[in-house]
Amino acid sequence: MTEVQAIEWTGRKLRLLDQTKLPVETAVFEAGQYRDVVRAVKDMRVRGAPALGVVAAYGVAMAARDIPRDERSSFLTRLEEAGREIESARPTAVNMTWAVRRLLDLAEAESDVSAVPGRLLDEARAMQEEDEEVNRRIGGFGSEIVPDGGGVLTHCNTGALATAGYGTALGVIRAGWEKGKRFQVFHTETRPFLQGARLTAWELVQLGIPSTLIVDSSAGVLLNQGEVSCVVVGADRIAANGDVANKVGTYTLAVLSKENGVPFYVAAPTSTVDLSLPSGAEIPIEERRAEEVTSFGGVRTAPEGIGVRNPSFDVTPHRYVGGIITEVGILKEPYTESLARAVTGPRGDER
Ligand code: MRU
Repeated sequence: MTEVQAIEWTGRKLRLLDQTKLPVETAVFEAGQYRDVVRAVKDMRVRGAPALGVVAAYGVAMAARDIPRDERSSFLTRLEEAGREIESARPTAVNMTWAVRRLLDLAEAESDVSAVPGRLLDEARAMQEEDEEVNRRIGGFGSEIVPDGGGVLTHCNTGALATAGYGTALGVIRAGWEKGKRFQVFHTETRPFLQGARLTAWELVQLGIPSTLIVDSSAGVLLNQGEVSCVVVGADRIAANGDVANKVGTYTLAVLSKENGVPFYVAAPTSTVDLSLPSGAEIPIEERRAEEVTSFGGVRTAPEGIGVRNPSFDVTPHRYVGGIITEVGILKEPYTESLARAVTGPRGDER
């Protein structure tokens, strides 16, 4: 099986598997400078919180390469501006800010300005490798909660396409499957951008894991009829108290899971945790274009003149979250303590 590689650095350019075209077409979008990265992120050619972090890092590295370096302070000011442009391309996934700040801090700390582009590029490459390793660890921990028999439901796309490789929630499903557990996968269509119908379905077919696609609104039927024994989703930002922002519809799944006594898990790297926000109420929720809702596959399905709301994410209160599967283990309530330890704690066995 060939591993899906959504992000590839060629030495001067970033090659992105264009996620607006899959599964019909396997096309590549090339970003030669940081503004191309901003455009690709806004257009959702690349998406998913960890993948956004990695491309944000490459974006800052490209900006550092292209901004004149004759004067240190103006170089750093322009780099900071580029960083702000990159991190604000999509507001909910904190991984972008996490990556941009990590690179800007490195640039600040480097006294020899001519060394900055090389150092930032090395860091972006390291972050890409790190992300795949982290996801494999998440998969290792998460495979324990995947049932042998029964059904597992997931939402949106959290696989190799949404990360540097392997995936988070989809990585958990994959790891369980690779360990020999057998279960029925259900995945939602994920209106309106269809990350589930287009991308998760494509990845599961590539992996050879049988899965069943459902419309978002039929999740309740399956949960109520006992066909789902566990729900696992990804995250775009996790507040200090364990409230989770993820693709719109996640909150609905969490409430339905609780109502039906089905465990609800979140799988995410610690880079998705934002300890600066006490609760999910402070997480910015991206509102996307009305056209995503008023048309389907480019064909208009709603009349002109209709009002539309299109929040792209929602926040699931921590009381619905049965566990947060991270690269340092499965975190439990009280999340204020377990998340703080996971992000800042010294040793895995103390987390
Ligand atoms: O709008 P998207 O497709 O970027 O939203 C993606 C999600 O909500 C994912 O669940 C989340 O980013 C985790 S991806 C490993």
